Amino acid sequence: MSTPHLLIGATGQVGAQLAARLAAAGAGVAATGRRTPAAMPLNLADARQVADVLDQVRPETVWLAGAYTHVDGCEAHPEVSHQVNVAGPLAVAAWVRAHGGRLVFFSTDYVFDGSAGPYGEEASPHPLSVYGRDKRSVELALLADVPGQTLVVRTTSVYGFAACGQGFIERLTDSLRAGRPVRLPRDQWGNPTSAANLAEATYRLWSAGATGIWHVAGPDYLTRDAWGRAVAAHFGLNPALVEGVPTAALAQAAPRPLAGGLVSARAEAFLHMNFWDAATGLAHLAAPVGWDPHSPSRT
Ligand SMILES: NC(=O)c1ccc[n+]([C@@H]2O[C@H](COP(=O)([O-])OP(=O)(O)OC[C@H]3O[C@@H](n4cnc5c(N)ncnc54)[C@H](OP(=O)(O)O)[C@@H]3O)[C@@H](O)[C@H]2O)c1
Repeated sequence: MSTPHLLIGATGQVGAQLAARLAAAGAGVAATGRRTPAAMPLNLADARQVADVLDQVRPETVWLAGAYTHVDGCEAHPEVSHQVNVAGPLAVAAWVRAHGGRLVFFSTDYVFDGSAGPYGEEASPHPLSVYGRDKRSVELALLADVPGQTLVVRTTSVYGFAACGQGFIERLTDSLRAGRPVRLPRDQWGNPTSAANLAEATYRLWSAGATGIWHVAGPDYLTRDAWGRAVAAHFGLNPALVEGVPTAALAQAAPRPLAGGLVSARAEAFLHMNFWDAATGLAHLAAPVGWDPHSPSRT
């Protein structure tokens, strides 16, 4: 028997919120993630396993929220990035091309070089990092191989509570609660984007049958340190512990787009939706509803 949705990466920030959104819609969801027994284990780097899981689930839609998202890790281990972030999605795309159905893929503003952000969909990509180049190569392959079946959602600076593990909010607030100063770049710009709001917008784009590339991000355009101070203030923690430093001082392995970020006007107009600003997103921060990492897999 087939299950309508296969959600790859249900344990991540975006995947956990998508799992909740799909559950709220009442459709059957098979979820993958290696960090919890509640989901099926799947390693995107293993093309055979990808095909086996797809053959087993036979989904009508694959939601590809799983990725190797550690940007500096991708720079240091480009072969791992290629296996997980390129070969894995292309194995999924090959299955969708052969068997039919739809594919939702998440990409990033790191496909741009950050010389002139925030960027609309019409801007020309020019990625600086392994992570950005790998994401861009998948975008191109999907649009060439399964164009009418693929929705690509580019997003940026996502925050929310993952089902497992730690995102930006947890890492930052843990440090500030412990009284540890945090250094964040004062010259990297982006749009803080609520994972829950991103999941809602993506679900609505998918429901409307949208294909091609869409930008979905919050409207505020902030530096990383300003965003860190906003989070600190929201949680009643000391914003003065957030120190803004130039990117160069952080010695990050992967080059970053400085004036990055996305313009989401097209998706907002299409969906008749105003994406959440940072204050609204922070006010709605909550663990995803409908996704319990300790419950048995809902297949
Ligand atoms: N976070 C952002 O600011 C941001 C910005 C732009 C675009 N995006 C894109 O949005 C998507 C979701 O990001 P996120 O923030 O939710 O990421 P995340 O919190 O880091 O979660 C990553 C997810 O990918 C899964 N994963 C990691 N390695 C995997 C592998 N080898 N095989 C299968 N699954 C693997 C993880 O599951 P397990 O480890 O449990 O298997 C987890 O569910 C990604 O495509 C990312 O590139 C994110």
